[in-house]
Amino acid sequence: MSVLVTGGAGYIGSVTVEQLIQAGEQVVVFDNLSQGHKKAVHPNATLVEGDLSDRTVIDAVFAEHNIDAVIHFAARSLVGQSMECPFLYLGDNVTNGLNLLESMTDHGVKKFILSSTANLFDDPENIPIDETERIVPGSPYGESKYILERMLYWLEKTQGLKYAALRYFNAAGASERFGENHDPETHLIPIVLQVALGQRDHIPIFGDDYETVDGTCVRDYVHVVDLAQAHILALNALGQGSRTYNLGSGQGFSVKQVIEAARKITGHPIPTEMGPKRPGDVATLIASSDKIRNELGWKTKYDDLHTIIETAWNWHKAHPNGYED
Ligand code: UFG
Repeated sequence: MSVLVTGGAGYIGSVTVEQLIQAGEQVVVFDNLSQGHKKAVHPNATLVEGDLSDRTVIDAVFAEHNIDAVIHFAARSLVGQSMECPFLYLGDNVTNGLNLLESMTDHGVKKFILSSTANLFDDPENIPIDETERIVPGSPYGESKYILERMLYWLEKTQGLKYAALRYFNAAGASERFGENHDPETHLIPIVLQVALGQRDHIPIFGDDYETVDGTCVRDYVHVVDLAQAHILALNALGQGSRTYNLGSGQGFSVKQVIEAARKITGHPIPTEMGPKRPGDVATLIASSDKIRNELGWKTKYDDLHTIIETAWNWHKAHPNGYED
């Protein structure tokens, strides 16, 4: 199978491309390299540098390569930034996604996997959160992903598209070769590890009066290789119909618990500083992934926080300056 991976030079994209290639698939990566890195593109993948805002470039990719399926990672993806710049998120994520969907439909490509998000669950009635939970997007970012999910619903009905919407909780960890390198970095685990590497003085903790075990936000950290595997399972199951899955490990850890685990792994004291709450943050997000486990036999290989952080630490030690070294 030949798979077009948008955002394949980014964090989750690069690891998914690696897993696809290991599974024997052919991969074309489409990325504007605004957040992605050339060095994060697997050498056996073909890289097309381009922007999804440009229909002619996307059309050319479908015309030139015999694409069977699309996995769409490329998007703006920071909850906090989307609260400050809603037009960027509602504009780019929605129109770029629409361009891609229209172009692939015009070229007869009928299989699509959307990188969606746990930010659809701003006010969950039940935790762990399964796929029947009511949708309350927590930010313009979450809303943009929900709009794309709704587009997929209608394109299935009208165009025969088969899709999977995969709602990630907190992607974490690294494969041996590919890891997390954003600029600027805003995510908890890489920032904690930058403190351990001596690149930052401390980690700010965004709020400690949430209704959680220790007052700090609780998240479900799921290993990026396990996430990548879920894409491959979903892709192979599309023939049997469209589907939506929540992807997490099913366990929640507070910000303080993550920092404590990182202290043990790195041997660094990792100083903290208490700060105000970050707009758009929800107290607790924990996934129920029973549906994908039961329907597709998804198994998480990395299901303890210690190992997840350890894989990230190994990657950060080997790439202290990210992909730029
Ligand atoms: N945090 C801190 N200090 C920091 C960075 C983060 O206390 O310097 C806290 C955040 O407030 C949050 C937790 O650590 O409570 C995790 O924050 P991340 O920024 O690592 O991740 P988020 O949970 O905000 O967001 C991630 C993805 C989003 C996705 C969301 C879904 O980045 O794309 O999970 O839950 F939408």
